[in-house]
Amino acid sequence: MPEARLFGVAGIFGEPCRLLEAVARLKASGWERLQAYTPYPVRGLEGALDVKRSPLAGTVLAMALAGTALAWLMQWWMNGVDYPTVVGGKDPRSWQALVPIMFEVMVLFSCLTAALGMLFLFNRLPRFGHPVLEAGLGRFTTRDKFALVVEAGAAAFDAEAARRALREAGAETLMNIPVPAPAFVGLRGLLRLAAAGGALAAAGGAGMYWLIKLWPVLPPMSHMLVQPRLDAQMSSAFFADGRGMRPPAEGSVARGRLAEALVSSRTAAGLAAPLPVTPAVLMAGRRAFERTCVVCHGPVADGTSLLTPAYGAVPANLQARKFLAYSDGMIYERILRGHNAMPGYAWALDDDRRWAVVRYLRALQRAQHAKESDLP
Ligand code: HEC
Repeated sequence: MPEARLFGVAGIFGEPCRLLEAVARLKASGWERLQAYTPYPVRGLEGALDVKRSPLAGTVLAMALAGTALAWLMQWWMNGVDYPTVVGGKDPRSWQALVPIMFEVMVLFSCLTAALGMLFLFNRLPRFGHPVLEAGLGRFTTRDKFALVVEAGAAAFDAEAARRALREAGAETLMNIPVPAPAFVGLRGLLRLAAAGGALAAAGGAGMYWLIKLWPVLPPMSHMLVQPRLDAQMSSAFFADGRGMRPPAEGSVARGRLAEALVSSRTAAGLAAPLPVTPAVLMAGRRAFERTCVVCHGPVADGTSLLTPAYGAVPANLQARKFLAYSDGMIYERILRGHNAMPGYAWALDDDRRWAVVRYLRALQRAQHAKESDLP
């Protein structure tokens, strides 16, 4: 190996104190580019080598401040200038409301800077190796030896002089550290890396698509996907008109809707409430009444509405003599179908609840027209 291609010369020492002495000696005789490799931190070595503090902390701080400022600026412009939104009468440009996002962006910037900066800026990520590692110095320095490397640097380097200095400083063994070729992945390597990444992403995407769309669902796990059936809007050769979607057969009634289907304003009067008068039924009726009817008919059903005049219609006073005389079935029918301005509430209340409301309404009417004989 020609001397010009040397990265440096390593001297290997058996003890940390020898290494420290050697550092001091070489420094004194004017050697500058010194690096030490040790199996564990050696006290005083950093000071002796003038190792500088990593600039990572300062970089992270700067980026954190930049992120905070950027988040403030973004929100200030969006909330205060571009689309001012007054919340609770407060100045849309006040900074206090912007703190959470400022904090988040600060954390984001710091984390990204710390991770990416460490990997790419300070560890030089696209470079996967280091001459010292590739020369095999780690064989010694990861066990019980201490190495001092005099790096060649850019200036003219007298390898022989370095070797002599190291030997005189007490090095047990000397080692040449060549510059491995090529030390960097290089542009071509980066392109290859990018191509590989792109291919991987494309393959992943295609695989995911296949998994979601085309994964063969085999019996018995077909989840009823595979069965002869007509999906909505599909045509069918089975029916004469070619339509897959069929209207229900004449006279069919949806489950649980039979009672509704049979009720009309003519038949309603004769219907009898199927529910007994029990506290549970009255409570259920009360709950349904308060949820559905109170807005219009008022808490005691006397028509004192919570609605504004803008509602237009006047809800009936259900305490009026006329409605006291209504049969249970008639009230039931009004709940089901509505009456004039009142819409039907069949959709909001199931059959039991409708009858429970009727029972509760009866209780309200009796409470408002109590006779002496009602008193206990
Ligand atoms: C959106 C408001 C509104 C709600 C909610 C409402 N009603 Fe009515 N209701 C009215 C109005 C308005 C009338 C008067 C209809 C008219 O013009 O005859 C009325 C009338 C009635 C009548 C008398 C119908 C007739 O034969 O004259 C009954 C009984 C009745 N409501 C019961 C109820 C019950 C029970 C509920 C709860 C399930 C309810 N209403 C919910 C507005 C409402």
